[in-house]
Amino acid sequence: MNITLQDAWGLASDRRFDNLEMPILDDPVNYGAKADAGVHEGAFLALTTDFPRQAGRFSDFLAGQNSKLAALPFEQRLSGVLRYLASPMRFEPLNMPDVHFPVSSFGGLSSCGIKFIRRHPTKAGFAQVFHFHGNYHALEKQIDELEWDGEIAQNQWLVTIVGQYWAVGRKYGDFAPFGVVLDSGIVLAQLQYLFRLFGFSFQTGFNTLNRLNDKLVPEGSFQQVLAAVTLDVPESANALLDNGEWEALEIATYQEPQGLMQRFGLLQDIVSLLACEFEQAWPAPLSLNVDKSLHETLPERDMLDVIYNRTASNDRLGFSQVNKMLDGEFLKQFMQVLQQLKTCRDRLPLEDSLMINVAWINTSGPAMGLYDEVGEPVCIAQDSKRFQHIIQDCLYSDNQKYNLSSMTLELFISVDTDKVSKSAGNSALRATHIAAGAVAHDVCLAASLFDAFARPARMFRDTKLQQRFGLDGQLLIQVLVGFNRYNNFALTIL
Ligand SMILES: Cc1cc2nc3c(=O)[nH]c(=O)nc-3n(C[C@H](O)[C@H](O)[C@H](O)COP(=O)(O)O)c2cc1C
Repeated sequence: MNITLQDAWGLASDRRFDNLEMPILDDPVNYGAKADAGVHEGAFLALTTDFPRQAGRFSDFLAGQNSKLAALPFEQRLSGVLRYLASPMRFEPLNMPDVHFPVSSFGGLSSCGIKFIRRHPTKAGFAQVFHFHGNYHALEKQIDELEWDGEIAQNQWLVTIVGQYWAVGRKYGDFAPFGVVLDSGIVLAQLQYLFRLFGFSFQTGFNTLNRLNDKLVPEGSFQQVLAAVTLDVPESANALLDNGEWEALEIATYQEPQGLMQRFGLLQDIVSLLACEFEQAWPAPLSLNVDKSLHETLPERDMLDVIYNRTASNDRLGFSQVNKMLDGEFLKQFMQVLQQLKTCRDRLPLEDSLMINVAWINTSGPAMGLYDEVGEPVCIAQDSKRFQHIIQDCLYSDNQKYNLSSMTLELFISVDTDKVSKSAGNSALRATHIAAGAVAHDVCLAASLFDAFARPARMFRDTKLQQRFGLDGQLLIQVLVGFNRYNNFALTIL
């Protein structure tokens, strides 16, 4: 390996714009982002589209209450989880990107694949692997007989999140892996929320991902198993796979572009660093500490509506701001929702090492300035124009736009790279990116609850922000939150 962990942290800073090869920097319009179009033959099982659209109040979910969805048949619950995790939600033909998914993703290219593994129904020592195709809302039987030396219980499936680096390789080149690992944290957080909402019990804390990787990722393919969850399933789960109507089909799918590793010289080394196993024990979950007064004041929104309406607010036609009059308590309430959401999923390795700061930009509400993770002021802006300028002056090219007037707050997630490198070695790179992705997703859900958009962003000159705001540590991702009105023509899918 030619690069060290130290180098990788460096390359994840502003140095990425100068030291990494990223096609999007040279040609932001025609960078040939998408993978190759192609066809794929296989055996597919279409999942039911008869799944619930309402789940109960978001605040009930936050308070740890069980939803009525737990009583539904297994197939409806599984189908619902996958719909709100990885199937396209809306087709917006005049927009970029034209397909809107339930979770935000790097470049909108939805880079993470979902696979299920179960014990082979008849052959001891073998497993079966099923891949979920969101565009068809269907499972594909990908490997019928996979040699499996470990034990998978009859009533458990292994659910894996696979980072398909190739899906964004042409757009982000050497930087692709960093974004995909952030994406996997987003997917992992959403998966856990959905499992809870749909009444599944599951365990995170999987520590032998590289073994899984050797089994699941074909030689030479540019992907990596980034997370796994053990899911408890009822008897009817295996019956669905054994007795379902599997159909042999040829479907249109993106194919992995060849030659990415040869084209981008640092990819292999960065991925090798990201492949280090977690050397850490997984932290214990936070205990639920229900704050009744918070729940009574939250908007009355259904949890599935909150997920459905989450948006980064892409609008090709132009983005029109909504000047929102917010009261002084909004920020604290927003940050409380984030704290509470964390208790509804497992804590992730090194999540505790992340540092959260918020720049409050809205002209109403608290005073413009920098706030901490509970919404207490760190420093109030003496010169609001200068404060806004710091936020604005972080675009990497003239082709980028930044509509500050629609922005309410910007949340920064950073980490002390020295500290985590000492405590977790090379595994710190992957663990902190996954955890930062999960927290960024929490921000997206909290924003959606308040009818705001939330846009995770990684392609800003963030070192400038770090230095000018005096943020501790290195920024892993930031999330822009605000209110706007958008005009996209949209068709609901599914
Ligand atoms: C890891 C990550 C990095 C992102 N970086 C940027 C960015 O630098 N600039 C930006 O405008 N959007 C960024 N986004 C937002 C995506 O472009 C947006 O989620 C995507 O276009 C899909 O839109 P939707 O979330 O409304 O479905 C990023 C998203 C993720 C998950």
